Amino acid sequence: MINFGYPNCKLTILRAHGMKIGDKHYRSLWLGEGETPQIRYIDQAVLPFRFETGTMNTPKDALVAITEMKVRGAPLIGAVAAGGIFLAAYRSAGENHQEETVREWAGKLKQARPTAVNLRVMVNRMMDRFLDASSPEEPEERARKEFMNILEEETEACRLIGLNGLEILKDIHRKTGRTVNILTHCNAGWLACIDYGTATAPIYLAHERHIPVHVWVDETRPRNQGARLTAWELQQAGIPHTVITDNAGGYLMQKGRVDVVLVGSDRTTRNGDVANKIGTYLKALAARDNGIPFYVALPVSSIDREMGNGVRNIPVEERSGEEVRLVEGLDGEKRVRVRILPEEHLVANPGFDVTPARLVTALITERGVCMATEEGIASLFHDT
Ligand code: MRU
Repeated sequence: MINFGYPNCKLTILRAHGMKIGDKHYRSLWLGEGETPQIRYIDQAVLPFRFETGTMNTPKDALVAITEMKVRGAPLIGAVAAGGIFLAAYRSAGENHQEETVREWAGKLKQARPTAVNLRVMVNRMMDRFLDASSPEEPEERARKEFMNILEEETEACRLIGLNGLEILKDIHRKTGRTVNILTHCNAGWLACIDYGTATAPIYLAHERHIPVHVWVDETRPRNQGARLTAWELQQAGIPHTVITDNAGGYLMQKGRVDVVLVGSDRTTRNGDVANKIGTYLKALAARDNGIPFYVALPVSSIDREMGNGVRNIPVEERSGEEVRLVEGLDGEKRVRVRILPEEHLVANPGFDVTPARLVTALITERGVCMATEEGIASLFHDT
């Protein structure tokens, strides 16, 4: 087991209480104890080199945690933005301008990162509850309850995604009679989702049920969320995995060493186009060329029903060129950044790409598995 400076760190899954790290169970986001409201989180910016938790006391803390990517992953940043609204409501309780203050924070939190729709979905949901004048409760208390509901609902959604996706992995295992080789990109794990993960949830459940799995983990340049976060999660859970460069997937598919591709999504439009971490589209193309199923696992909170044609319309975050020019790692005990490209070079760094629906085998959601089509997605919302 790799041990990057946090001794005896062993992570296992315990369904109701999050992942076990050392002797403690963790989710990636939780409400702090104590009278003054605080939101606690696992700091993903320092993993896997250090395991640290952080505290958000104000909406600004929530905003900074999102923009500095201490918290990341679509479902998680949606939940953190919801937490930001709760903190804004509490901090401004009793003020004449409480509503105005909270509205201002809602605007800022929604814009913190442009691609994941979860920010908008969760902030709007929080604002509806906060502004619900028909309730006898104080607005900040309503905000607290809604934030807690979001934490629990997103966790439960991932658990159900796990159960729905498990059937797919079981089926592949039944047909081949050997280890199921899954390729994943970026981190759609429990760190990105409060608990279980989206793409990882079926993998964790399969492992628990003794279905042999092995995961090819794309390192996911430039920020290396695959190598730094997904590999860390899998290692701690004892799931066999191999980290590969982002360019290796197509070759492995040609050689018959990948049975299925399983990724998450930051926004899926109503026609089934899927935005996910840059490089996902190339994996979908390679999967199609090699007849390998390409599944996307996502909670319905990542579906943008207001938007059609994601390839054309989804806003893609353009990130700093320094992420490409510099690489972070350990030098002995010290976290350092080294330059791999002189500053004068122009660099483009789109954070996401959009995989057209035609390349997606199916969407795995908490409400079931559906086709990546307008009808398939509409079928998830029949009862709502
Ligand atoms: O830029 P990030 O690290 O927030 O990007 C995250 C991803 O692309 C994930 O694959 C994603 O949020 C999937 S949902 C768990």
